[in-house]
Amino acid sequence: MSNLSTRLTILLVDDEAMILKTLQRLLVRHDWDIVIAESGAQALEIMAQRSIALLLTDQRMPEMSGLELLREVKASYPDTVRIVLTGYAEMDVVVKSINEGEVYRFLTKPWNNAELLKTVHEALQHYHEKMTRYSEITSQLELANLETVMALAEAIELKDHYTKGHCSRVRDYALRIAMALNLSDNLRRDLVYASILHDCGKIGVSESILNIDGPLNDEQYREVKRHPVLGFEMTSKIDYLRPASIIIRQHHERWDGTGYPDGIKADEISLGARIVAVADTFDAMTSSRPYRRALDFDVAVQELITNRGSQFDPEIVDLFVSLLDRSTPFSGELETPRRLLLVGALSEQISELANSLPATCYELISVATLAEARVLITSVDMVVCARHLEDGDVIDFLTACKHLNPQIIRIMLIARQDMAGMAETVNQAGLYAFMIYPLRPAEVHALVENAFEWQRMASVLHFVE
Ligand SMILES: [Fe+2]
Repeated sequence: MSNLSTRLTILLVDDEAMILKTLQRLLVRHDWDIVIAESGAQALEIMAQRSIALLLTDQRMPEMSGLELLREVKASYPDTVRIVLTGYAEMDVVVKSINEGEVYRFLTKPWNNAELLKTVHEALQHYHEKMTRYSEITSQLELANLETVMALAEAIELKDHYTKGHCSRVRDYALRIAMALNLSDNLRRDLVYASILHDCGKIGVSESILNIDGPLNDEQYREVKRHPVLGFEMTSKIDYLRPASIIIRQHHERWDGTGYPDGIKADEISLGARIVAVADTFDAMTSSRPYRRALDFDVAVQELITNRGSQFDPEIVDLFVSLLDRSTPFSGELETPRRLLLVGALSEQISELANSLPATCYELISVATLAEARVLITSVDMVVCARHLEDGDVIDFLTACKHLNPQIIRIMLIARQDMAGMAETVNQAGLYAFMIYPLRPAEVHALVENAFEWQRMASVLHFVE
């Protein structure tokens, strides 16, 4: 996506300095970045370092010809649009190169400035459209991937109740560290997947052992210790989870080499796993388990510091501790409640919702009409709207909400008997879900929590518009 928001770069290649200068002067007045190379080899060096939208190259150059360069670029950087500048004498070469798909257009020397500019504009437009399409397809694929990850995470929660909330907090801690380290988008995404799924191997561990309310004996502990390898085996078979599967396998390794399953140490452990190890342990220490109370925040921090260099990567611990400034809470410890706007809900539905959601986490605002709702839409996090209202079309309203407040989660409140044929409405208005009444408190709570969880995952992975 970064390709679309940044200025496009044009690479000019010619062995004659005068031609490069003239072309540069002509193009530099426009809103593009221009870089130059005096040979094919130099051009390839530049392309290895930065992304080039358009390559404009001379054909006749010593050592590597324009056509040879175009072939290399086509193979290694197929997205770069390629234009060749050539004399009439070389027309047969050009025709061949066009037929073989090496170039988008060709221009003849001496060129006409207006024609050259028009061609460059068209080429960049072509590039932009191609990148936009890629970006849309990538987003759709990543959304589908995310759905699978979330479904898997929910399956783990069903089996091991303790993981609920834990994985999201591990993800938030890990992301904080990743941002401070300025890790790439790809690494960040792998870290998000790995944080959410780090204990997915527990699906293969007996439920009776997972839910034991107390310390484990040796045999039970051996069984639990299988989960990193089981998790690795599950996730490494899925293409887009392969990098995350390494983190999952290594999240119980220790910096001093005494961890499991492989007993690797220090830099042999992937950076992602060293991050997840700190985040996972810190959250485990600061949250309550059935058989022990949560450690005090400062005690947990001290515990991390004590184990820096033995259990944990010392640099990650130092960074994490410096980030744990309690004045800026992590998302798991939201200070202000989420604001839910109920539109056209019946009084019993309002009280059912109020009973289902903890008041410390959610503030409910109820209005009767779409007109009243419109005024509030930019100041709430979620809208739950009845199917039919007298002052307007609910689908139109929910569709409009998305434009007024792109982050808002939209849910429609309907009766079970009205479910038939409603699936299309979800797509049409881009709804998150239906809330079906009569409402069941546990379901409502899970639906609302999952919706916010989904929103957060989507936003850290840059899917939210
Ligand atoms: Fe684990």
